[in-house]
Amino acid sequence: MDTNGIPVMEPDRQYYFINLCKEQFFDIRAKKNRELTYCVTTFGCQMNSHDSEKLKGILDVIGFSEQEDEKSDIVIYNTCTVRENANQKLYGHLGHLKNLKQNNPDMIICLCGCMMQEPHVIETIKQKYGFVDVIFGTHNIYKLAELLNTHLNTKKQVIEILEKSEQTVESLPQKRKYSFKSGVNIMFGCNNFCTYCIVPYVRGREKSRKPDEILDEIKKLTDRGVKEVMLLGQNVNSYGKVFDYTDGKIVQIDDDSQITFPELLEMVCQIPKLERVRFMTSHPKDLSDELIEVMATNDKICKHLHLPVQAGSSVILNKMNRRYTKEHYLALVEKIRAAMPDISLTTDIMVGFPGETEEDFQETLDVVEKVKFDQAFTFIYSKRTGTPASAMDNQIAADVVKDRFNRLLERVNTISNNQIKRYEGKCKDVLVEEINHQDSRLLTGRTGENITVHFKGDQSLIGQIVNVRLDTCKGFYFIGEQI
Ligand code: 5AD
Ligand code: SF4
Repeated sequence: MDTNGIPVMEPDRQYYFINLCKEQFFDIRAKKNRELTYCVTTFGCQMNSHDSEKLKGILDVIGFSEQEDEKSDIVIYNTCTVRENANQKLYGHLGHLKNLKQNNPDMIICLCGCMMQEPHVIETIKQKYGFVDVIFGTHNIYKLAELLNTHLNTKKQVIEILEKSEQTVESLPQKRKYSFKSGVNIMFGCNNFCTYCIVPYVRGREKSRKPDEILDEIKKLTDRGVKEVMLLGQNVNSYGKVFDYTDGKIVQIDDDSQITFPELLEMVCQIPKLERVRFMTSHPKDLSDELIEVMATNDKICKHLHLPVQAGSSVILNKMNRRYTKEHYLALVEKIRAAMPDISLTTDIMVGFPGETEEDFQETLDVVEKVKFDQAFTFIYSKRTGTPASAMDNQIAADVVKDRFNRLLERVNTISNNQIKRYEGKCKDVLVEEINHQDSRLLTGRTGENITVHFKGDQSLIGQIVNVRLDTCKGFYFIGEQI
């Protein structure tokens, strides 16, 4: 406790503020004589979605009801800054929120997430968007209740951006979209500094959670009915390596208490009630033979790997600081497929990196033809201020990039449409997720390979794993029948 009687240690401190908020908002609700509502909009990756579940968990406990309409008492934008256009979009949305706030002056607008870690964004918001109430970053998501409390007490714009994680606070409420599957953070941040990428600057250095903490969290989740977990990290394959970051240099230090990612996976698989485990994202340079072995020999591990290649030309890969070559990537894929022939491989590919020639782009197409990805997420290179690539010569003209992008998209779509057909007629275990949105007689679920299948069944199967034959391929999904 500090001198005001407020707990200093987490998570007690946040539970203290959650209770305080409960009281403060209870009074506001009584005055308005209606339910208070919130709307959380999430941009970007799985990590952000997972963070949003924590924000929602806190607001639920305080006593708000969730809705999708932005005409809410609290509106939170959890932002992404991987690509530049996201920034412009956010400012557009803020204009709309300003209008809504004119009709509901008590509305509290919060911004958080990666974009807030950029100083120029904070400057813009301070100068032009004074009606935004609470602003925080990626390292203090868990402090929502404390920051709301400060805003209620001061009525001022509250800004708290930390440069790095002082601590990780994971044992707070969490609202899961599905009761039977959940994301679990195993590490935060990234040390790779791919030259185009802003993530290491906004998410900070790699920090692994302790194995015991992770296992404990998963056990608690399975006790509450979770069957599938997705282990989350920017680069899960380097889990457990303990780094120190001094004078701009990353130094690996030995720490006997840490284990490797494959070791962690094996321990996770031993949790009796857990039926499936996935993970995201893998960096090709760190994907070890041990991981392939553990994946191949463990039935609980979903046979799906998201392995971003980014580009096919070794010259471009070098300029991107990816630390592998085209040949290395292709050999890795071969090794993975030899161990797990049925595995689903997905990837991220970027076009228009500075200096990319038509020949370089052909190398990307060549990798696409050779690997035959099950799915590829394609991106146009976006110049991010502060990254080494933004200062490189030979930024590529927009029309050239667009043309390459279209050609790439055509190839990846044709190939993935063909690839998925190889599962036709096969029986797969499917985790049933929901009633089909278009046809309520159908259920929708996913195989371990992350393939969507719709099949006739009773809604009591939601949350169960059932065996389904994948009968008819309909492009990106299947119509099947329960066996
Ligand atoms: N421009 C375009 N795409 C990017 N990505 C990361 N940074 C950029 C950028 N500056 C893509 C990468 C990454 C995915 C999450 O986003 O392909 O794997
Ligand atoms: Fe960005 Fe590269 Fe780290 Fe992925 S591995 S988050 S692309 S720096």
